[in-house]
Amino acid sequence: MANVIIVGAQWGDEGKGKVVDIYTEHAQEVVRYQGGNNAGHTLVVGNEKTVLHLIPSGILHQGKRCIIGNGVVLDPAVFLREIENLKKKGYLQDDRQLVVDSNVHIIMPYHKAIDIARESNSGQRKIGTTGRGIGPTYEDKIGRRGIRLIDLIKPEVFARKLEEVLPEKNFLLEKFLGCEPLSREQIIEEYSGYGRQMAQYMGNASVLINQSIAAGHHILFEGAQGSMLDVDHGTYPYVTSSSTIAGGACTGSGLGPRFIDAVIGISKAYATRVGEGPFPTELNDEMGERLRRIGQEFGATTGRPRRTGWFDAVALREAVRTNGLTGLAITKLDVLNELETIKICTAYAYRGERLHDFPRDIEVLNECTPIFEDEPGWQSDICGATQFSQLPKQAAAYIERLEEVAGCPIVMVSVGPRRDQTIQLANPFT
Ligand code: GDP
Ligand code: IMO
Ligand code: MG
Repeated sequence: MANVIIVGAQWGDEGKGKVVDIYTEHAQEVVRYQGGNNAGHTLVVGNEKTVLHLIPSGILHQGKRCIIGNGVVLDPAVFLREIENLKKKGYLQDDRQLVVDSNVHIIMPYHKAIDIARESNSGQRKIGTTGRGIGPTYEDKIGRRGIRLIDLIKPEVFARKLEEVLPEKNFLLEKFLGCEPLSREQIIEEYSGYGRQMAQYMGNASVLINQSIAAGHHILFEGAQGSMLDVDHGTYPYVTSSSTIAGGACTGSGLGPRFIDAVIGISKAYATRVGEGPFPTELNDEMGERLRRIGQEFGATTGRPRRTGWFDAVALREAVRTNGLTGLAITKLDVLNELETIKICTAYAYRGERLHDFPRDIEVLNECTPIFEDEPGWQSDICGATQFSQLPKQAAAYIERLEEVAGCPIVMVSVGPRRDQTIQLANPFT
């Protein structure tokens, strides 16, 4: 028995979907535990690309149960559309493969309207959210005003809860944010329909997960976003509204911490970020443009161009510590194929001081400049490598240097988007 958590070790989009798809082979269950359809996880099998926003990335494997834990916020229309698309492609032939915890909070139309209106009214102070209503839904969860799946499927409870919250939401939308108020009847009609369609998927994630553990199953926990977007440990306020670090897997699924055997952080061989907020190693030049073009760095959810930069070991060490990472998977090494020289940021300079740890004060962070070391590039195509020994010596040395500066063993190196473009160095399930 081994239970493994996969987390993003940077600002999201590290390639978690690909890694989860690969590790699903070893697991019987795959669990999403936080975030919502702000996530976009890309899986490439053969020449077929699938982008998942809510359903766990294990779903392409027949017979593997996929569970959406209580910590997720769920947009029913997106969820049902995702199911339909998967079925069209021949996946998810048995609905019992998918379970949604009854306590997931539902993203309501007012959450999306508030998210979008706040962002467009914020000017310079905007976060650059995905506009999916994530923040406002988590606000209502913590504020004890949320509507959960268990409420949605019971018409009277749903109507009562909506009655309680909608006047306040409409007041905010109309009087403060300058938007149209929302119709109670329309919401009830649309969302009751979703409730009816979703009822068959409803279950108790904590019970299922713990039964699976008792039966000796292996479980894979699939994080969304990245550690630097964590609401507590990220670059606040430029973060998402959930606990993206490994601890979130426990609260977001009803799993006790003692059952976690390994935590694998995913990082690109360079860095990217979508949305606003500090990004110390960002490249606003020709090289940044080059990484974006070669790495096809455009958001899987919003299509926005991703900001690009060099590998940041200071930020990565933060992720190693806050997640207690036992291993690292390095993705997109192939994107650096053509480069003559590659830079790694090993520390920050702040007013003449050398900082080893990621500063907590965003004003300090904004004044930090990266201290780089230069690594020689390999200038050859590594996309076909499946063994570490097949990598050119400069590429192997680059990976070894990342391992040193991050202070965490590397267990996987990804050299292309497909399943088979992967070098596995250790199996976290054994
Ligand atoms: P996630 O949100 O962490 O699952 O990552 P995304 O799917 O948003 O973004 C990662 C992108 O990189 C996707 O388009 C993947 O297909 C792609 N990708 C993953 N690993 C590799 C790799 O090793 N090389 C290349 N070139 N692309 C990769
Ligand atoms: P995956 O799982 C990258 C970013 C947004 C914004 C901030 C807050 O694919 O790695 P939100 O809509 O969550 O309130 O936006 O977080 N963000 C992501 N960036 N990958 C993601 O998910 C993200 N999910 C949210 O761009 O900066
Ligand atoms: Mg993504």
